[in-house]
Amino acid sequence: MTGNFTFNFELFNNFPDMYFLLSKKGEIIRMNSFAKEVISQDENPESFKEIFDLIELCDRNEGQNIFNKTISERANKQFQTRFFIQNKPIDVNITFTYPVLTSEGESDEYVITIVRDITEEKKKEVELMRFHNVAEGTVNPVQITDLTGKMIYVNPAFVKVSGYPKEELLGKNPRIFGSGKHPKKFWAKVWETISSGKVWFGEVENRRKNGEPFYSQLLISPIIDKKDGKVTGYFGIHRDISEKRVLEKQLIHTQKMESIGTLAAGIAHEVGNPLASISALVQVVQRNTKEQFTNEKLAMVKSQVTRISKIIRDLVDFSRPSNYELKSTDINKTLKEAVEITRVGTKAKDIQFNLKLDNDVPDLPLIPDQIQQVFLNILINAVDAITEEKTNSKPRKIDIESFTKDNYVVIRISDTGPGIEEENITKIFEPFFTTKEQGKGTGLGLWVSYGIIKSFQGDIKVKSKPGEGTVFHLTLPIET
Ligand SMILES: Nc1ncnc2c1ncn2[C@@H]1O[C@H](COP(=O)(O)OP(=O)(O)OP(=O)(O)O)[C@@H](O)[C@H]1O
Ligand SMILES: [Mg+2]
Repeated sequence: MTGNFTFNFELFNNFPDMYFLLSKKGEIIRMNSFAKEVISQDENPESFKEIFDLIELCDRNEGQNIFNKTISERANKQFQTRFFIQNKPIDVNITFTYPVLTSEGESDEYVITIVRDITEEKKKEVELMRFHNVAEGTVNPVQITDLTGKMIYVNPAFVKVSGYPKEELLGKNPRIFGSGKHPKKFWAKVWETISSGKVWFGEVENRRKNGEPFYSQLLISPIIDKKDGKVTGYFGIHRDISEKRVLEKQLIHTQKMESIGTLAAGIAHEVGNPLASISALVQVVQRNTKEQFTNEKLAMVKSQVTRISKIIRDLVDFSRPSNYELKSTDINKTLKEAVEITRVGTKAKDIQFNLKLDNDVPDLPLIPDQIQQVFLNILINAVDAITEEKTNSKPRKIDIESFTKDNYVVIRISDTGPGIEEENITKIFEPFFTTKEQGKGTGLGLWVSYGIIKSFQGDIKVKSKPGEGTVFHLTLPIET
């Protein structure tokens, strides 16, 4: 039987794993060529008498136990450890096989042991662990998609920024948080780049689950299989630049408003003076003519001049000349007066005004007329908005609040009108932007208000969504 068996063992020479024929004590009786080759790398290969001599010291006892169990339970067993050959570690997976099946039946004399070198696998596992830890821990949102673009991995940063739970993201195309702000061509180009195995880098606008925009610098690199050089998926990493974008937009807006202000001041000055002379001349001629036709026409000229004068006054207000005097102003009193003036307007009859004014709001050094004009502009817009509302089901009310917060006086005016379309939000503070019928609005109200508030180092913001009403939020600094 041994003869037969010896012959059979030679077969293992062709295998790429190490094969050992062991006695029931673990002594090495034979090994295949690959095992010989590995062990011969040691300067003292004779020192390996038993299989346990190859095993890392700290694992030897465990190895012995598993070996004994294999024999007592007559069942194959595996374990992972390390061999040390010429002091170099090799990660291995050991399988003890007992009893051994031969052509004559089971043999109780030997244990066949298969040792597989798993150093490469281990290395990959460690690399994967490292990548996984980095990806899970980084603040940069990371996504991995398969060839069809379906997400197969997203890290916690990605989950956080997108606002979607992980389960909703996996299996989906990243299109779900596309903002629709980039033309089809843009994405076609991205796709073309990455599917040809190249890296794509650029800035994109995405949309969170709640609809808010999210700006990022995105790098997408194809994941290439080392073996055949084929693309197997895509790795995308984002850098959040939302804050930067918002600041940029604000800066552009501020600069734009400033340059318009300079222009307005120039026009007001250049047009204002000749207009005053025209107005005076018209009055003189009117007084000196009895002819009805001329008088009628002059009256029309006068009304047109009045219209232009109003616009000029607004321009002057925006670019407040420095000869106005600041006066200690009671914000709550000014608000109440503005509400009264608005209320007497005919349109406002069935609109409810709710005032919630904090008595602790301090007086501020302002120009009372101007600040009242701001309140009036916003209140009249609110009334216009509510009156324009088609449905009768909604309450028709305007809330006016004042309070202090962190060295600022805050004034909030909210209405239940139809709200403002998203694309108009950035435009409403621009001069001559109006959605009202011709002759109804000049589109200067908010622009002038913006100019006035800014000249007092304050700020004016709007929050609005179509169908959800509008809130104007004013802040004015309390000088300390
Ligand atoms: N509370 C609001 N609700 C809905 N839309 C508003 C509101 N306030 C302002 N708007 C929008 O902003 C635009 C600009 O307002 P703004 O006060 O500057 O000009 P206007 O009211 O159209 O004209 P003007 O005030 O010069 O008579 C309005 O035409 C309107 O589309
Ligand atoms: Mg207005």
